Amino acid sequence: TPLTQDELKALVGQAALQYVVPGEIVGVGTGSTVNKFIDALASMKGDIKGAVSSSVASTERLKALGIPVFDANEVESLSVYIDGADEIDGQGHMVKGGGAALTREKIVAALAGRFVCIADESKLVPALGKFPLPVEVIPMAAAHIARRFAALGGKATIRQKDGQPLVTDNGQHILDVTGLSITDPLAFESDVNQWPGVVTVGVFAHQKASVCLLGTAQGVKTLS
Ligand code: A5P
Repeated sequence: TPLTQDELKALVGQAALQYVVPGEIVGVGTGSTVNKFIDALASMKGDIKGAVSSSVASTERLKALGIPVFDANEVESLSVYIDGADEIDGQGHMVKGGGAALTREKIVAALAGRFVCIADESKLVPALGKFPLPVEVIPMAAAHIARRFAALGGKATIRQKDGQPLVTDNGQHILDVTGLSITDPLAFESDVNQWPGVVTVGVFAHQKASVCLLGTAQGVKTLS
């Protein structure tokens, strides 16, 4: 029987251990694929100094397994950051933020020399833009930013949770934008970053993946 998506995630979560540097602090992302990595990382906890985490959820999971979690301000740099993606193209550009953790993810990724992306093969796309693009915004700017996306052909909606706008770990809101075709991810990221009220755009092009471990029916494929 073919592997389920959950099993593919476990496969790449386990495979990512080979990128963890013994004796060091590792950057840890957020999401269901990273949860598999965190569970696998428990087997290495005696060998590493600890982790810097990109979300409250990952911090809790790491701590529950006895892995020390450091504040991002306590580290100058990390060798490796390991995280999932909602979409990744052949060049390593990603869309992230499906789990609402994009801002802290970009911050921890910025500390790291290498971004190792772990994903099942459903995440690999020829071009970014099919997955609704998450953008973290200052709430008072949401309507204005939505109009700017409309001018680009996009449709932005405020992400909801339990009938209310979702509030991120940073106290802000998320717009999910459909209908965009992101042909030049670097330029797009730079452009949207300039819009007042944008905290973080979910395109990771300036901090793209150095390596992608893709879970496929044939096993783990390494794209770099
Ligand atoms: C979290 O904000 C996202 O960037 C995640 O990395 C992304 O949603 C991948 O999550 P899954 O591994 O659950 O698909």
